[in-house]
Amino acid sequence: MNYDDLVIGLETRSFGRQLYLFRETDSTNDLALRMGHYGEPEGTLVVAEYQTAGRGRRGKQWLAPPSTSILASLIVRPPSAMASWEPVAAYSETWYTLLTALAIAQSIEQLTRLETGVKWPNDVWIDRQKVCGILTEYAIDQEERPFYVIGFGINVNFTKETIPLPIRRTATALNLLLGFEVPREQLLQRVLLEIENRVLELREQGMEQLMRELYARSIILQHRVRVTTSEKDIEGRACGFDLDGSLLIQQDNQRVIELHAGELHLID
Ligand code: BTN
Repeated sequence: MNYDDLVIGLETRSFGRQLYLFRETDSTNDLALRMGHYGEPEGTLVVAEYQTAGRGRRGKQWLAPPSTSILASLIVRPPSAMASWEPVAAYSETWYTLLTALAIAQSIEQLTRLETGVKWPNDVWIDRQKVCGILTEYAIDQEERPFYVIGFGINVNFTKETIPLPIRRTATALNLLLGFEVPREQLLQRVLLEIENRVLELREQGMEQLMRELYARSIILQHRVRVTTSEKDIEGRACGFDLDGSLLIQQDNQRVIELHAGELHLID
């Protein structure tokens, strides 16, 4: 990834303007969490060509060979006036994850014309294969102010051989679908702009428009799904989303239950 190419075409107000680009790090999320702790401002972006300890959700590893992906973590700080609006950390975590998935899905579609979808709660899929995962984390800095780190990994330019074995069946990369490589800098510029627009919109207007976008882009609605949560497995038909971004599932006994998080498998 070229630092100058990335900075020159950036159209955001603040997202990505404070930019740290590394050849290698443990995990960009861990680094951004450390930076956030010491007060780095909203919009700070940590990017790496390779992670030695990339993290996925639910304690999984995130694997990506060097220079094939966008591996990035963004610091977001809710304005202090919003403290009362965002009382529950998990509530915002879900929306930050979903709005990032929507932003990435749209950016990929604009740049490549590939048809993208969002798989609740944190993936972007193309043709029933994963191209992007998102991990949002909440923390408190040394001055006791809350902040979030939104980490995203986008599989951009892999070769069939470099797709890590454990994910070869379920994951793909943009170039493999297109037949040519995609400039990572251009994609990241768009992604940052789209995330910034949605964060500002969420703050200024609430989640109404995002909710509409989520319904339009979701690939799971009306499908039978199984969600593995820390307590149990739940199976049923995905029938909608609640205001806090949680998933509504209608079970076979017609009961509708609400899930805040979990690992989702599409059954049909
Ligand atoms: C998932 O699908 O489980 C979420 C994957 C998130 C991976 C990204 S890569 C950049 C950032 N740094 C990390 O260690 N994880 C996130």
